[in-house]
Amino acid sequence: MNRLAEDVRQWAARSRERVDRAALEPQLARFGRIVQAGDGVVLVEGLPDARLDELLEIEGGVAAQAVDLGEAVIGCVLLGEAAAVTAGRRVRGSRDVIRVPVGEALLGRVVDALGRPLDGGQPLAAQSTAPVERPAPTIVDRALVDRPLATGVLVIDAAIPLGRGQRELIIGDRGTGKTAIAVDTIINQRASEVICVYAAIGQKASSVARVIEAVRRYGAPERCIFVVGEADAAPGIQWLTPYAACSMAEHFMQAGRDVLLVLDDLTKHAAVYRELSLLLRRPPGREAYPGDIFYIHSRLLERAAKLAPDRGGGSLTALPIAETQAGNLSAYIPTNLISITDGQIYLDPTLFYENQKPAIDVGRSVSRVGGKAQAAVVKPLAESLRLEYAQFLELEVFTRFGTLVDERTRRVIEHGRRIRAVFTQPQYQPLSVGEQAALLLALSERLLDEVPLERVGSFRERLRDWLAAQLPEALALDDRSQPLSDEVRTKLRQALAALAQAVAGQPAAAGG
Ligand SMILES: Nc1ncnc2c1ncn2[C@@H]1O[C@H](COP(=O)(O)OP(=O)(O)O)[C@@H](O)[C@H]1O
Ligand SMILES: [Mg+2]
Repeated sequence: MNRLAEDVRQWAARSRERVDRAALEPQLARFGRIVQAGDGVVLVEGLPDARLDELLEIEGGVAAQAVDLGEAVIGCVLLGEAAAVTAGRRVRGSRDVIRVPVGEALLGRVVDALGRPLDGGQPLAAQSTAPVERPAPTIVDRALVDRPLATGVLVIDAAIPLGRGQRELIIGDRGTGKTAIAVDTIINQRASEVICVYAAIGQKASSVARVIEAVRRYGAPERCIFVVGEADAAPGIQWLTPYAACSMAEHFMQAGRDVLLVLDDLTKHAAVYRELSLLLRRPPGREAYPGDIFYIHSRLLERAAKLAPDRGGGSLTALPIAETQAGNLSAYIPTNLISITDGQIYLDPTLFYENQKPAIDVGRSVSRVGGKAQAAVVKPLAESLRLEYAQFLELEVFTRFGTLVDERTRRVIEHGRRIRAVFTQPQYQPLSVGEQAALLLALSERLLDEVPLERVGSFRERLRDWLAAQLPEALALDDRSQPLSDEVRTKLRQALAALAQAVAGQPAAAGG
């Protein structure tokens, strides 16, 4: 009897010791359960205190984002394969918003909206992360846009110049060269220190591959990040892509760097958001888009900024792209985006079919802040160009009817045709500031007016080598150079006149 009592006493002592040693801190996990699942969204009950944009983990490993907070049921967007997600599964709240990896390790990589590699490379090592949604810099954190962002596309840099920290919409019908302009701008950054982030939203895999291939071939891919949410990715991933890309870009801006963010395109982003919203049974508004469609794009594009010097002076330039149907700029999403951005580059299908590429309609395009930041050496040369070109376009319409025109009008038209020919530019061949200044000087000095129209292209093609041999200092000009001194201007004019003569005199077969 005594032995038994002793055993019990010892057992109790051991147990108490074990209990004392065990780490029994309270661990709080919040679980809910899926009540309805389908098409990339789920409804979850039992998580009444979930936060907006909270990251949720569904039993089985798929992540979800809480986007619609009801009293009893919350609406969530799936960020992964939907097939395995069924009603009844447990859902765990993380108490954290969705985050993406940020930093140098991303440069040169192709990732999805959660930072998972898509290029077959190593997963990104654990490093710093940033939430996908962040408040935009406040007004006191910002400075005025004062440095150009050279696109290398002459018509843009001359007539619709962009500044670092600006938001410029590229808008036009399908297949009019919107992506081409963005890609050329990225390629042109091979000559600058600008970091480029390209976000592909809802695009075909083949289109994305073409873009990546072009940048790898002609640009500086080691300074680019590709964030891809293809058309067959989960709608939630597509929806998240621009925000994730923006966070990745923002990280470099906050480190004092200049960043270019291309969002290709926000029309598809709006369509994905509409699809998700309808599935979540949110009330549809105009064109069946949910009521907050304006806000989801404005809060994204507001994050583009030029930071004040005491904030590091970095910048984030955003080039959102929007696709129109039959040139309709007054549809809901295009008007929203036009009103959010600092200007738009409008691509016209008629120009495209007339082989005027890039098919930019100068009259309907505008850059509301970049003019103040235009490269100093280009600015005085480009000043009268827009007006001359507009006058020419107006006059040209008349001559289409075979009207006889006087000598002065004929000259305006011939000159205008040269401007248009110089503005025509093949893909993947961005022009440096020096080449642009030379071409604009040739135009303003009317050196091309005697060159046959079909050879103007040849003039542009031979320009680089010609200047390299005759006046290398002209090629060294960049966006920080001062306006041409009289001396350089005279020398450049002479070199250009000689080239014009050589091109005009060359045998027709060799003409461009
Ligand atoms: N400046 C250009 N010169 C020649 N071809 C061009 C030019 N810009 C675009 N293209 C061609 O036009 C087609 C459509 O361009 P893309 O940029 O894909 O259009 P979007 O993005 O508007 O749908 C592509 O085949 C592209 O190669
Ligand atoms: Mg495109």
